[in-house]
Amino acid sequence: MQTISNCTPGEIQKAAQALAYGKLVAFPTETVYGLGADATNQSAIAKIYSVKARPVNHPLIVHISSVNQIEKWAIDTSDYAIDLARCFWPGPITLILKRSKLASDAITGGQDAVGLRVPSNPVALNLLAEFERLGGIGVVAPSANRFGSVSPTSAKAVEAELGSFMGKEDLILDDGPCLIGIESTIVDCTKGAPIVLRPGAVTTEMIELVTGLKNTIYLDELEVRVSGNMASHYSPKAVVELGMPTQRGHGFIALADVPSPSGALRLAAPKSIEEYARVLYQALRLGDELGLEIIYAIEPKGAGLALAIRDRLTKAASGK
Ligand code: TXA
Ligand code: MG
Repeated sequence: MQTISNCTPGEIQKAAQALAYGKLVAFPTETVYGLGADATNQSAIAKIYSVKARPVNHPLIVHISSVNQIEKWAIDTSDYAIDLARCFWPGPITLILKRSKLASDAITGGQDAVGLRVPSNPVALNLLAEFERLGGIGVVAPSANRFGSVSPTSAKAVEAELGSFMGKEDLILDDGPCLIGIESTIVDCTKGAPIVLRPGAVTTEMIELVTGLKNTIYLDELEVRVSGNMASHYSPKAVVELGMPTQRGHGFIALADVPSPSGALRLAAPKSIEEYARVLYQALRLGDELGLEIIYAIEPKGAGLALAIRDRLTKAASGK
């Protein structure tokens, strides 16, 4: 595995070639780093599952370079799904659509729907466009972490998570820290109205506004398989608890206006909800690097992105 720190057009071209040869390329997106493979190459897809130690019935998101690629992967796409794609792509939203024949069981986990996303990070977009120029059709990319663990928001975190499992010719593209810091909003668009399966930076309020459909709901217990529905997810090695630290030496994450109790190790003090999302995973990782046993977090209040942060914290806390 090699990390490319200076993502010049030439290096991105080489990375696209590596994908075309069936290698894995971890790349930055605005949400978290993804572990990419050619979405039409079954053995490359199999490598993703083994590098991540991910159960094979867990579907992968296909990353494409523009809204024009939708019809390659999806059929019978509803008008409101197209509206969402046009409004928020490139950006942090994944649409679950009825799959075309191209979307194999290896991608969808045998489900009849496929997840599609156009990321906005320029390195990601250039990589996807370059890959398509070489004849590629899409890149599957789950978050570049071992299954159940915290998503990486930097190339260093990808190296720490997957470096020892990736192949010699696999690549990691380094474009610095991710701007958003938590995974994309996932919206099931296979029904009459959108259903938010995983909240994210594109909020339920924004989705309602664009589609004009009121019944956008966030359900945690749907039958479709989404990361968040697994017991232990977004979990660091440390135990995560919600609330104030009770002893010296506990880690602590909260908005800057919440003071640390004495003896707590402050891992993050974000000044806004956006900053909270951006630093959350990095703070959980820092807690592990410091060898902390327990990390306490105070959940941010309110709707929008705060809901997505609470979702991740609740799941991290229920993990162990
Ligand atoms: O922000 C993101 O979405 C990142 C970046 C790299 O794009 N990717 C990401 O992928 O978070 P992953 O695999 O870690 O989480 C995607 C979730 C999975 O839990 C999967 O179950 C769900 O999306 N998913 C993918 N395809 C699906 C489908 N056809 N139906 C239901 N859920 C699906
Ligand atoms: Mg993930």
